[in-house]
Amino acid sequence: MRGFLWVLIPVMRLDRLLESRLASSARQVRLLLLGGEVRVDGAVERDPRRQVGKFSRIEAEGALLQAREAVYLMLHKPRGCVSATRDARHRSVLDLVDHPQREELHLAGRLDFNTTGLLLLSNDGDWTSAITQPGQGMAKTYRVETRDEITPDYAERFRAGIFFRYENLVTQPAELRILAPRLALLTLFEGRYHQVKRMFGSFRNPVLALHRVSIAEVALDESLAPGEYRALLPEEIALLRGAPSAGDPLP
Ligand code: URA
Repeated sequence: MRGFLWVLIPVMRLDRLLESRLASSARQVRLLLLGGEVRVDGAVERDPRRQVGKFSRIEAEGALLQAREAVYLMLHKPRGCVSATRDARHRSVLDLVDHPQREELHLAGRLDFNTTGLLLLSNDGDWTSAITQPGQGMAKTYRVETRDEITPDYAERFRAGIFFRYENLVTQPAELRILAPRLALLTLFEGRYHQVKRMFGSFRNPVLALHRVSIAEVALDESLAPGEYRALLPEEIALLRGAPSAGDPLP
């Protein structure tokens, strides 16, 4: 329940947090603060109304009350690996991560078992929700290799939208750039089940290889081999924080 509240309320007053964590009265907390016994991110804090977040480091009377550090990772997902935190039968993407806060991590979106490319992981629920929210329109670009030739009419059909019978809907306009007879870049602004494969499937053209190149303005770091990961840079985290960016409407 507490974790759920943190998602809804990203910041709260320091005195309220201390009262609940220390099971103390408002008066006791006030005295601690006035006595210089409380530190936020290493510095003494006396203001009871100071806003603190779920990743603030908070100490009271020398004891650590909260020490969660925000973790943001980009992973080059390899083939043959499940986009889940654990899986009974197969290797999961989390099995590839060796990080002290590994157990706190969750995925910002998923890729199919044999799809490769950019996958984002974090313990910041607000951030991952912003990326995965269906209405967010965050651009996701895939490199697609197919069995048969990709002709220019694919671009028109993908821009107009493909009817998905099961969901009874038409897909959002998508952008296709043909790179070679059987190779293209496809940018989607939504994420439906097996969406890329189903879109090419509507032409009866099976996808042979699928690789996610980027999400919004953040591209997979080319120095990462399949299975490797690195921390996101602060500017990458900011770019992905609710940025509609590349999801601007298509002309
Ligand atoms: N579309 C697919 O069909 N598969 C993926 O893994 C991602 C998008």
